[in-house]
Amino acid sequence: MTDWDAVAQELEAAAPGAIIRRALEEFGSDAAISFSGAEDVLLLELAKQSELPFRVFSLDTGRLHPETYRFFERVEKHYDLRIEYCFPNWVAVESLVRSKGMFSFYQDGHEECCRVRKVEPLIRQLTGLRAWITGQRRDQSPTRTTVPVVELDGGRSGKDGAPLVKWNPLANVALDYVWASLQGFEVPVNELHAKGYVSIGCEPCTRATLPGQHEREGRWWWERASDKECGLHVPKE
Ligand code: ADX
Ligand code: SF4
Repeated sequence: MTDWDAVAQELEAAAPGAIIRRALEEFGSDAAISFSGAEDVLLLELAKQSELPFRVFSLDTGRLHPETYRFFERVEKHYDLRIEYCFPNWVAVESLVRSKGMFSFYQDGHEECCRVRKVEPLIRQLTGLRAWITGQRRDQSPTRTTVPVVELDGGRSGKDGAPLVKWNPLANVALDYVWASLQGFEVPVNELHAKGYVSIGCEPCTRATLPGQHEREGRWWWERASDKECGLHVPKE
């Protein structure tokens, strides 16, 4: 059994590209990059630079910005790949919006809608994998300050019941580093960034931020900073 805490320590100061390479070498097609359609496109660029094959999936909640859908299309063309889109269960979505409307999250919080539209599809996708690669960073949120570069993903299990390993190759780099890399590598980016958006999620739950505001202030702004996790990374199930 691999000691993932030891691997995390070994890779703590490694460059993001080296961490992704290690993930792809260890897990091959049993690993996939979890791509939100924002600045985490850097993960795809680094995977491409590793010259190893890689898979990409995205959780299409049905509530993303038109700019994000167009960005997905550009990314597919640029990297000559197909994103594995994961859709929510239609019965669950219908039941939610028929009973509570399209914007229930402004009244009773984002947890229920995120569970239906993001977390359940994620769990379904993870059952076919042994590892996933995310763009989480420690500087992204007060809830992420201790994210390791690799970890066992809580109680979740993957393919054939194997423990699921979660790689966070950008954990120890800052937003400035990500943007300098995107510009240096001339990577396509979501048009929303040029409109003042930093952290990008679903359209009704994302807004542009002002200079000096923390990026997380653009997400679920009607809730407390400590509640701004949708369950992808801090399991709520
Ligand atoms: S969230 O949990 O608050 O929505 P955030 O937007 O900070 O997450 O993104 C952190 C990482 O979570 C992304 O880099 C990506 O790996 C993963 N992620 C977030 N949203 C999605 C999505 N819709 N599809 C796939 N992965 C996602
Ligand atoms: Fe629903 Fe907003 Fe969560 Fe998207 S971010 S799944 S719209 S609550």
